[in-house]
Amino acid sequence: MKRHYLIYIIGILFSMNIGCQKVEKIDRQYRETIRLTDNWQFQYQDTLSDQWTNVTVPHDWAISMDFDKTIDMQEVMVLEDGDPVPKLRTGRTGALPHIGKGFYRKELNFTNQDKGKKIYIQFDGAMSHAKVYLNKKFVGSWPYGYTSFEFDITPYINYGDYNLLEVHLENKPLSSRWYPGAGIYRNVRIVKTNPIHVKQWGTYITTPVINEEEGLVNIETKISNSTVKEQKVTLVQTVLFNNERVASEEQSLYVQKGENTSEIKIDVPSPKLWSPDTPNLYKVITEVVVNNEIIDTFHSEFGFRTIEFTNNDGFFLNGKELKFKGVCLHHDLGPLGAAHNESALRHRLLKLKEMGANAIRSTHNPSDPSLVRLTDELGFLFIAEAFDEWEVPKTENGYNTLWNEWAEKDLAALIHRDRNHPSLIMWSIGNEIREQTKKDGAKNAQFLTDICHREDPSRPSTAGFNNWKGAIANGLADAVDIPGWNYKPNKYEAIHKQHPKWKMYGSETASTVSSRGEYFFPAKEGKHKIRPSLHSNSFDMDFPNWAQTPDREFKAQDKHKFIMGEFVWTGYDYLGEPTPYNEEWPTKSSYFGIIDLAGIPKDRFYLYKSKWSNEKVLHVLPHWNWKEGQTVSVHAYTNYNKAELFINGKSMGIKTKNNNSLYDTYRLRWDNITYHSGEMKVVALNDQNEAIEEVVKQTAGIPYQLKIEVDRSEVQANGEEVIYASVSILDKNRQLCPKADQLVTFNVEGQGTLRAVGNGDPTSLESFVAPKRKAFNGMCMAILQSTKEEGKITMTASSQGLAPATITIHTQQTL
Ligand code: GAL
Repeated sequence: MKRHYLIYIIGILFSMNIGCQKVEKIDRQYRETIRLTDNWQFQYQDTLSDQWTNVTVPHDWAISMDFDKTIDMQEVMVLEDGDPVPKLRTGRTGALPHIGKGFYRKELNFTNQDKGKKIYIQFDGAMSHAKVYLNKKFVGSWPYGYTSFEFDITPYINYGDYNLLEVHLENKPLSSRWYPGAGIYRNVRIVKTNPIHVKQWGTYITTPVINEEEGLVNIETKISNSTVKEQKVTLVQTVLFNNERVASEEQSLYVQKGENTSEIKIDVPSPKLWSPDTPNLYKVITEVVVNNEIIDTFHSEFGFRTIEFTNNDGFFLNGKELKFKGVCLHHDLGPLGAAHNESALRHRLLKLKEMGANAIRSTHNPSDPSLVRLTDELGFLFIAEAFDEWEVPKTENGYNTLWNEWAEKDLAALIHRDRNHPSLIMWSIGNEIREQTKKDGAKNAQFLTDICHREDPSRPSTAGFNNWKGAIANGLADAVDIPGWNYKPNKYEAIHKQHPKWKMYGSETASTVSSRGEYFFPAKEGKHKIRPSLHSNSFDMDFPNWAQTPDREFKAQDKHKFIMGEFVWTGYDYLGEPTPYNEEWPTKSSYFGIIDLAGIPKDRFYLYKSKWSNEKVLHVLPHWNWKEGQTVSVHAYTNYNKAELFINGKSMGIKTKNNNSLYDTYRLRWDNITYHSGEMKVVALNDQNEAIEEVVKQTAGIPYQLKIEVDRSEVQANGEEVIYASVSILDKNRQLCPKADQLVTFNVEGQGTLRAVGNGDPTSLESFVAPKRKAFNGMCMAILQSTKEEGKITMTASSQGLAPATITIHTQQTL
């Protein structure tokens, strides 16, 4: 029989352990997915004109434009920051021209062979208020810029002819608290299917039984039938692990016109569990078979893992306790803006993994769909967050304007899209929503929690609360399954005592502010410290009024087993919200990041690494170029217990970690050290005072040469992969010149282009797309991008009076 014959062939191919590329080739016969990247035309105007520019998508129209203090200036009283009166905030949303209208158009071609198919357009997100037209006919709209959505374009298509796709977007002023980006900033696809097919996000996979021998997989499948008649179909569900078939089941059903649901259970023997350390992923291929012919295929991924949240003992993954060592991430990619790039996101996550992070909270909105795929693949727990605002406004034109009509649709879209992912552990329905202070605030929380439970009973709802008293008093905290606390390490104990049954974690922690390589003495706590240079202390003790240092949160986390862990604000610096310099100019990006806007780790990276990772860490700050005789502090971020400091060979004493003071618990500190140029050395010691590791810093001489370091020397030639090339300015002895600010020029040749530049300085107004960048404290970053041709990319970095540096990267079609 034809069908069995086909399945037999596919079965043989799987058992021959074929690569997933071949599987996709087989799929193309039944369902075609075309990503719309090239040959878009764009204009940024108030009214549509005939001035078009060619662009590729994903595209952020504002990131290549100039900063301007007046863009989206907001005269606001930010209650969350404790503002007593309205303040004029410049740079709150990044000071880039993201406000206004953006028009996109693209020619599409459909042949006569496409007749009879169902054809959709899918957007992973478009910023914002998208209106989509095909051949001048209105197809649909979706206002919230972060949600993924799909429209059926079949009725509007001219077959065998030219088709014009148009997308109109508009960003309103006063609609965000950070840089939202602008444009079709995520991927767009055309999907062609049989009129009977699995819907977008059409499988819901859960694993109700998991033990050593068996993993029971429940697959719910939504099938759309746009033909007029009832049709008998067989659904073949094949589970694969490492592209090898491990189980399959089939089921026959009659599908009526419209949406149909099928449910099937499959036993998988000896399931391999998913965890951050073993990110084992399974795949399901769903085949729709009619009259012995496959007419549609659909791929899903899932994993086997159990999650358990407890009130006293923390969080358990697969039966083992695991504390969240998490970071919050906004969606922009620094110098790339909001334009999505999967390789850049991967680079970011790998850096966080190196630091020992095991969890990500996507703040405060639905992320690009690839983020949760990457947390699955690279091994992070994931909290998917939907909203920063509900009915009560934080910003005049924010989500409050959409709430009534869209809240349910936006939340359901997020859940349907992401609910198969094993890394995803909670649905966050909101962050610091202002309903915390309203009498009936719990009503909206209950409404959203009910949607979570209806669409995915396998995971709890959560929210991040800053107003703990308000949220508890009005029942809001009770209306989510797991309350998260923003900046409340000193209240964990009291809340736990009051509500011993609650399961809790730190949804936002620290908010320490720092500028990479900027040191201020003495190293001591600086609460909402405003410094004339518009920088914050890299000793990681500066924090705004509501926030803390990393050490304070560590202490609370270590003390309380019932707190399931923390999500640091933030893993990376982001565009907008330049706290504590909200009214000062020029500042336009955050100081909160553990890693700066350009992707260069700040000192804080090593403080978290010393606490979170299993690797030995000995990181010493500051640099060793000060005024002779000046009094300085020296800190070591280390997981060694003891160390000795030497200045030019002379011991400044041994320091041992102790609990007498907060800042001696997680770091080693030498204060009141008199600076003498030369050599500063910190030696880690064991219990017998024997040296185990040392770090030496020399006083740097004048800038002499450049050095380039790349994150990868081989990448795929696909026109999308980015390479991070960091440039350092060194003296003759190859010491970093810690205050060097020379202008560095980049020349890129071969099969690559210069995509963006940055230096991590929140006060820099230089362009992200110019072929040059001033160094900030000795360093800057060039982000290169491969072309679609195989070959070599050569980048030379030069600066007047300094020896240049060159690097070569190889690009290949397949890696
Ligand atoms: C929180 C808020 C974040 C960010 C942070 C800065 O209150 O949830 O979005 O604004 O403060 O500390």
